[in-house]
Amino acid sequence: MIQKEIEKELNKQIRLEFESAYLYLSMSSYLSTINLNGFAHWMRLQYEEEQQHAMRMYDYVIERGGRVLLEAITAPQHEWKDIIEIFEHTLQHERGVTERINFMVNLAIDKRDHATVNFLQWFIDEQVEEEANVEDILSQLKLIDGKGTGLFMLDREAKLRVNTPPPPA
Ligand code: FEO
Repeated sequence: MIQKEIEKELNKQIRLEFESAYLYLSMSSYLSTINLNGFAHWMRLQYEEEQQHAMRMYDYVIERGGRVLLEAITAPQHEWKDIIEIFEHTLQHERGVTERINFMVNLAIDKRDHATVNFLQWFIDEQVEEEANVEDILSQLKLIDGKGTGLFMLDREAKLRVNTPPPPA
């Protein structure tokens, strides 16, 4: 049986993962409207990944005999100045998620909940990868000043992204 405080934080994190999904879907829709269809595709896959993160936590809470209580999702931002601002926002958002995951690991250690510490390990690795990917794209976008032929090329590259479903928890 999962401890109440851990259950509460996991429920909060389920909501935050769905909020991340919503934010990236909003970015995807905005990118479509400015005809960056490769990046719109990239963000849509990001949206799908975040839903997978939420559901991974959802399944874990249930597996541990806890109760999933879905919370209200806040509306995301709808517009950005340009593509660089979108990826700066994404990086800042992912850094916030990393802090949240670290906070939960520390809590699980304090509460001697080794199963949850172990479960969260996958998310720690995932955050390292997510931050690195976004940092990479952001630095490339800055190199080309977020416009022109370079942007056209990076947009085409973004279109090649494929979603690799995570292994089962
Ligand atoms: Fe669910 Fe982008 O971390």
